[in-house]
Amino acid sequence: MKCRRCRAPAVIEIRRHNAGFCRDCFLRHSREQVRKAIDDFDMIRPGDRVLVAVSGGKDSLALWDILRDLDVDVDGLYLGLGIGEYSDDSGRCARAYADEHGAKLVELDLPADVGFDIPTGARVARRAPCSACGLSKRHLFNQAAVDGGYDVVATGHNLDDEAAVLFGNVLRWSTEYLGRQLPVLPAGNGFVRKVKPLVRLGERETAAYCVLKGIDYQVEECPMAAGNRHLGYKAALNAIEDQSPGSKHAFYFGFLDKASPLFTPEAVAEQEQLQACARCGTPTTGEVCAFCRLVERARG
Ligand code: AMP
Ligand code: FES
Ligand code: ZN
Repeated sequence: MKCRRCRAPAVIEIRRHNAGFCRDCFLRHSREQVRKAIDDFDMIRPGDRVLVAVSGGKDSLALWDILRDLDVDVDGLYLGLGIGEYSDDSGRCARAYADEHGAKLVELDLPADVGFDIPTGARVARRAPCSACGLSKRHLFNQAAVDGGYDVVATGHNLDDEAAVLFGNVLRWSTEYLGRQLPVLPAGNGFVRKVKPLVRLGERETAAYCVLKGIDYQVEECPMAAGNRHLGYKAALNAIEDQSPGSKHAFYFGFLDKASPLFTPEAVAEQEQLQACARCGTPTTGEVCAFCRLVERARG
């Protein structure tokens, strides 16, 4: 197979684009996909300071690298979750990238800075680990951005992630989530803008990007995520994609285009009912937000 752009031998085939690419043209294609997502959804504006949440995995390291190549004013943020060796290795990958490229990495550590790790916090609060983890990440990413004077938090959620989350939300018709499942959430209510510039790239592509660029990343999946529903949704979508390439893209972007606006009124109405958390000021439905309740229980 030959590269679609330059006719050199291809190193990767992307079936949903019905194309192969050589190394350099693939890297350029990946950058263009991110640039297109940023432009189409108005994710990052001139002068914005961006904080990219870097887990040490392929997606967020590829995203950091691409944003730097696109001359975005971007620093990394690594959050230590206290998940044993997995977290140690993840942190090492994030730091190695920063050191090697002279990039700035902001670090926060859940056990040292907040007082609990994910395995303990989840157990004590009787929450699924991924739910305690997601809650902590959302809260602390935003706090780090506000504290550091950043305008935007970017995460490495890719097309596979977003299609799997959408699939789960549609299976249950979780309309309150469907109204907020967007590649950009605007700033407001004490939150900076949140963006997902990798929505046009699949995880096979972000892995290839890192390999071709010589970026060392955490290959292991989080040990707390085993048996997680999303892994099942991803497997189901992969089987469909295999039969008919382009299905994931059509599912996700078709949703954004045709269905997502139908759920906006419900999401807006819900936002309007929120009040400030009595402890930290985060908008919440109760008096104290879920993160502050988790912290309280986890610290014991
Ligand atoms: P996940 O929820 O693990 O699929 O991760 C989704 C995105 O959240 C990643 O692509 C990163 O941008 C970000 N992220 C996850 N874990 C961390 C972490 N420990 N530190 C910083 N960012 C993270
Ligand atoms: Fe959060 Fe695994 S990374 S529970
Ligand atoms: Zn709170």
